Amino acid sequence: MSEPGLTFRQDYFGDPCAWKALAELLQDTFSIDVDMQASFGGPDPTSMPFGYFDSEGRCVANFTAFSMPMMINGTAVKAAGYQSGAVRPEWRERGLYRDLMQRAFARTAAEGYELDLLLTDKPALYERYGFRILPQHIFIAKTPEPRKPGPPARQLSLDSPDDLRLIKTLLQNRQPVSAQFAVVRQKEMFLLNACFNSAIRLTALADNAIIAWTFDGATFWLLDIAGTTIPSLATILSMLDVEPERIEICFSPDRLDCEASPEPYEGYTMLMARGKAADDIAGPFILSPMAEF
Ligand SMILES: CC(C)(COP(=O)(O)OP(=O)(O)OC[C@H]1O[C@@H](n2cnc3c(N)ncnc32)[C@H](O)[C@@H]1OP(=O)(O)O)[C@@H](O)C(=O)NCCC(=O)NCCS
Repeated sequence: MSEPGLTFRQDYFGDPCAWKALAELLQDTFSIDVDMQASFGGPDPTSMPFGYFDSEGRCVANFTAFSMPMMINGTAVKAAGYQSGAVRPEWRERGLYRDLMQRAFARTAAEGYELDLLLTDKPALYERYGFRILPQHIFIAKTPEPRKPGPPARQLSLDSPDDLRLIKTLLQNRQPVSAQFAVVRQKEMFLLNACFNSAIRLTALADNAIIAWTFDGATFWLLDIAGTTIPSLATILSMLDVEPERIEICFSPDRLDCEASPEPYEGYTMLMARGKAADDIAGPFILSPMAEF
């Protein structure tokens, strides 16, 4: 496809001007500042961006694929995620997005990805490419028997270089938080999601697990665990020293040694999947909010 006055570029994140132009497109389209990633080491190095740029270097359209290895029903799956899909209003309805989607899907198919995942509020856009909606569930846990408090947990700050180093190390070496459905490796989105939402607390337990959580005084939301071991829910609650009235777990709780029942999750966006591994995804499950992209 060739649109007069536009230049197609792929794999352009190495060019700081082009990255900045994409950040501006995403700021203008979604009001998010992806450039916050600069302080954490930049965008995901597995990113495969596809974009159109005008003669002034503005990014007018983009669609990015990235590697998001998953653990699904105990099996490691080579999965790709798709994000940063946007076209500037004056360039819409000319087929630019269709062109970028087709290029990205062709690339990941050629590279042998077994599963394609995306989050969207416009599922019709992707159904024609074989994506289907995966219903998600959160898990309401029964309060476990209290344990004796262990060594004190330590609140972490993304602004502290030492804390950031620990978080990155554990994200790099983490075990999947669930054997049923969880990312195996996804550092950049965890950091960006933590940064976007100031209510999220990151707490280190014994320097081998980081708990991502929020608590409003009554409900405790367990968002994710980035750890070389996965502590039980009882251990987490005693070490965080919280006694919630209600516990909502935002990932499949199969490794938490707790009783939990699923409830349908109604989010603003829907999780969609396609590919030969998509049929193996059996619910109930949810993608951790820290892995949202
Ligand atoms: C959605 C968006 C990316 C579409 O870009 P675009 O360049 O106008 O899309 P195209 O002209 O390439 O159209 C591609 C296809 O999508 C369809 N489409 C476009 N907008 C759509 C929408 N909002 N809902 C469903 N389908 C849509 C078109 O009909 C076309 O279908 P076809 O291939 O069968 O002909 C653009 O409107 C946009 O940036 N919106 C705001 C950000 C956004 O919602 N991004 C998607 C995040 S998941």
